[in-house]
Amino acid sequence: MNIVEIINKKREKQQLTKEEIFYVINDYVAGKIEDYQMSSLLMAICLNGMNEDEVLFLTDAMYHSGESLDLSKISGIKVDKHSTGGVGDKTTLILGPLVASTGVKIAKMSGRGLGHTGGTIDKLESIPGFQTAMSLESFEQQVNDIHFALVGQMGNLVPADKKIYALRDVTGTVDSIPLIASSIMSKKLASGADKIVIDVKVGEGALVRTLEEARTLANLMVHIGKNANKEVICVLSNMDEPLGTHIGNSLEVEEAIEFLKGIYEKDVYELVMTLGTLMVQMGLQISEKEAKNLLIKNLENGKGYQKFEEFISRQGGNLERLEKAQKVFSVKSVKSGYINQIHTLKLGEIVRAIGAGRYQKEDSIDYGVGIVLSKKVGDFVLENEELLKIYVHEKDMEIGRILECFEIDVHYKEPTPLIYEIIK
Ligand code: URA
Repeated sequence: MNIVEIINKKREKQQLTKEEIFYVINDYVAGKIEDYQMSSLLMAICLNGMNEDEVLFLTDAMYHSGESLDLSKISGIKVDKHSTGGVGDKTTLILGPLVASTGVKIAKMSGRGLGHTGGTIDKLESIPGFQTAMSLESFEQQVNDIHFALVGQMGNLVPADKKIYALRDVTGTVDSIPLIASSIMSKKLASGADKIVIDVKVGEGALVRTLEEARTLANLMVHIGKNANKEVICVLSNMDEPLGTHIGNSLEVEEAIEFLKGIYEKDVYELVMTLGTLMVQMGLQISEKEAKNLLIKNLENGKGYQKFEEFISRQGGNLERLEKAQKVFSVKSVKSGYINQIHTLKLGEIVRAIGAGRYQKEDSIDYGVGIVLSKKVGDFVLENEELLKIYVHEKDMEIGRILECFEIDVHYKEPTPLIYEIIK
């Protein structure tokens, strides 16, 4: 087999065979296919898509590219959660400990930032000392002991996704339904959970922009799950504005901590409750009402926050030394009116450009930079009132670019709902 012929085939919109897909994945992981050839194939997949069979083969090939976890030594139902990626999405940092505090076991493998979207691993690595890699034995032990462990694409678990993910991040190949579905599902299958809840983000700040595309992605992941005997539930949620107020790695950790201490934005609360209720229902096999009540109880009595602290210290993190950029600029509105839209992709790109994300695989992250919104969609703002604060290291900020992200009008526009639908 020959990689150039396979690239040409996909460029000509032809279907790849199981053998061709396994060949590409195995040889790329083995270093026999170059990054530039893989980038070219990824771009052809981005432009010309893949059918359901090709996505199943791709997921399977990625899943088999390394080891997988056997969580059978951990008793009970193991639940996992994933997001297709958005701006300001810190729900995993909240949900992991909160759901685990109810008794559900969560064994989670997360990714780094992808394109303009943030990644849980980058967020957690903004906590000094926090370890996102550990041995498989320690991972199992931690889930058994404290019910929650979270790792990056460690060791030899799905090495194909580790390599392809990093390449997609810097080659404009992130927003492709077959690539997202296979990336997420190969990791979810390998990390051994029995039941999986996926937050499929839809809108301007997401990797899929329309509800129709989001339904296709969700149905595909549910189908891959069924094929592997795993229950997958997808929640389609709105990413037309950043989630919550904080965008940027350590800033999002800060917002997650505030949430677990009882201070939260309405949208983060609604999303956490929707996803969390499903996770607790699946994990403890109880009714929706019982699951929701348990979550509310553990949020109010502080057990969720205690679990967060336990999880961070177990993985070596020191919350007292959370990094934050020292230069803070207040960006003020140039007119009065209702905020009818926040251009989330543009805002996500600004946060990436000030150092919170990558443009090259080797780029390091500036953990302390980011944005904290003072206003959300639907709010009224006065001329000269603060729209947001920006945390940076450089002196000059292009304030004009930030102001362009806000659509402000004298007429109020009803914001779109946060939760669109649930697909099982
Ligand atoms: N999350 C992943 O793990 N992979 C993607 O492609 C997108 C979001």
